[in-house]
Amino acid sequence: MFIFKESCDLQKYLKTQAKQGFSIGFVPTMGALHEGHISLIKAAKRDGGITVASIFVNPTQFNDPDDFKLYPRTIEKDIYMLEKAGCDVLYLPDVKDLYPDGLPANEQYDLGYLETVLDGKYRPGHFQGVCQVVNRLMNAVKPGKLYLGQKDYQQCMVIKKLLSITGSKAEIVICPTLREQDGLAMSSRNMRLTKEQLINATGIYKALIYLKNNIRNNTGAVLKKNAGDILADHNLVPDYIEIADADTLELLNTVQNENQVVALIAAYMGEVRLIDNMIIPLNFVPYGN
Ligand code: PAF
Repeated sequence: MFIFKESCDLQKYLKTQAKQGFSIGFVPTMGALHEGHISLIKAAKRDGGITVASIFVNPTQFNDPDDFKLYPRTIEKDIYMLEKAGCDVLYLPDVKDLYPDGLPANEQYDLGYLETVLDGKYRPGHFQGVCQVVNRLMNAVKPGKLYLGQKDYQQCMVIKKLLSITGSKAEIVICPTLREQDGLAMSSRNMRLTKEQLINATGIYKALIYLKNNIRNNTGAVLKKNAGDILADHNLVPDYIEIADADTLELLNTVQNENQVVALIAAYMGEVRLIDNMIIPLNFVPYGN
């Protein structure tokens, strides 16, 4: 695997590959890799061409400085995992390479409604930071396909919007969330949890399963209350428990037959904020307010 720390070297290399007709599949990450990330690398490899991963813990997307400081960093293990998965190129920039003019205070993207709900509401500025870094990474890598994980459901929609704003033709490939055997969604943040917290963190998955199984028979208020009780039983403190239209993220209190919906939860386990979601298939019976 080639490792490039500077975008000029990365671009030179990728240009020679493009000239030989290779397409580029890109997996952007913040490191602390787990099997969920590796499943994205594998998906990119299956599609052929050159697989490029990036590792950069982007300061502009952390609305909480402690969260940035404590974000797990496991670079040697990450490199080992990427090599083992057959990743071709790792882009490993520092802050200066991606933000040569300093952190962009005024670079704003019009994300509209998407930035007003869920993580947009609870993490002010977070998605602007995601867009700032993803735009820079896209300019450096210029991929034909961008591989993202469904666990970051709203982020996938934000990045889709970013690509339409910037006129990028790259195709987004969304890959399913990988889970531990007990259902806990794989996440770099899980590395910050104690053994006991890891067990309790499965409460998020249990609450999502509850929502999925009971959405036909209950009101929105009852669903949220009962899901909230499941979280509380597991020492989880929610930022939100929501059911939303899967295409628009419009928050729903009642669900029509034709809505494909997604249940989304963000909750704290101690100091660590975890998110997860579950798409609930079409054709279920509506529930009232
Ligand atoms: O999902 C992530 O790991 C990050 O938000 C991303 C897309 C790599 C941007 O920093």
